[in-house]
Amino acid sequence: MVNYKDLGLVNTREMFAKAIKGGYAIPAFNFNNMEQLQAIVKASAETKSPVILQVSKGARNYANATLLRYLAEGAVAYAKELGWEKPEIVLHLDHGDSFETCKSCIDTGFSSVMIDGSALPYEENIALTKKVVEYAHQFDVTVEAELGVLAGVEDEVASEESHYTKPEEVIDFATRTGCDSLAISIGTSHGAYKFKPEQCTRDPKTGRLVPPPLAFDVLDAVMEKLPGFPIVLHGSSSVPQEYVDMINQYGGKLPDAVGIPEEQLRKAAKSAVCKINIDSDSRLAFTAAVRKVLAEKPAEFDPRKYCGPARDLMEELYKHKIINVLGSDGKA
Ligand code: G3H
Ligand code: 13P
Ligand code: ZN
Repeated sequence: MVNYKDLGLVNTREMFAKAIKGGYAIPAFNFNNMEQLQAIVKASAETKSPVILQVSKGARNYANATLLRYLAEGAVAYAKELGWEKPEIVLHLDHGDSFETCKSCIDTGFSSVMIDGSALPYEENIALTKKVVEYAHQFDVTVEAELGVLAGVEDEVASEESHYTKPEEVIDFATRTGCDSLAISIGTSHGAYKFKPEQCTRDPKTGRLVPPPLAFDVLDAVMEKLPGFPIVLHGSSSVPQEYVDMINQYGGKLPDAVGIPEEQLRKAAKSAVCKINIDSDSRLAFTAAVRKVLAEKPAEFDPRKYCGPARDLMEELYKHKIINVLGSDGKA
């Protein structure tokens, strides 16, 4: 049994309480490789932003669960080396799909886990979430649960349709499960194609898709039922068109990729939404930079020469999110 406190990590409890009071949100950045982690830690340390490092089941399979855990432990040491005296770093399991996966993470040093029972019937979601909460709370590990289903195209988390969270269920769910935060569905979804062209309008000047607004009425109703309770938004990448354009310019093919406009995320961050999940934007930045280098320098074969620029672009992206969208800079 490895306790996260011995690794210098923190759970989300205090972080979320401060974020709700302060009207900002904590970035939850997914990582599955060293370059992403370096960029996240550097951006967080330099802006003094609390940060959630999140690992999906797919990431654990890709990078090896043990290695990822040690990378996260290294992140705390690296943050200190960068001059961040008291780093506020959470290691979080993203979309845990079973009690066993959550337990394995809790036992090996995660400070927070998500149990995603959102695709289960309501009572089964409650039973599974409650079981994880009971185990996690023994070790002061915080638990994120989910109500409502997001549409998405990513592996592991795909589901056919989007069902908004039902505000009338949230009090019963939060009370009976004891979860520490709740991911809700208000129209976001995973991946780089969050909306179908037929759901959008098109900007006549640029020809780009303009997505429909998020269901802020559902968020407001949830907040009214659970005042001050930490809310989480998944699927919150903005799909920056500059990266999409770079990818397309250098041989990629991402037609009509579209995300959540940043002004809507800014608005959400000021509310009880205190954790905003971003993965796809980092993937896009990485891919855009790699494609550019390889297209411009076809003789290059040293991975550091294209992973380095990819890391720089991701760091710029993370800093932008922290400072200009979530407002978490200077809060740690
Ligand atoms: O929620 C989805 C995350 O972006 C993780 O995606 O399962 O492909 O690692 P993944
Ligand atoms: P994006 O695909 O919008 O980055 O969402 C990531 C996410 O929700 C991870 O859980
Ligand atoms: Zn997610």
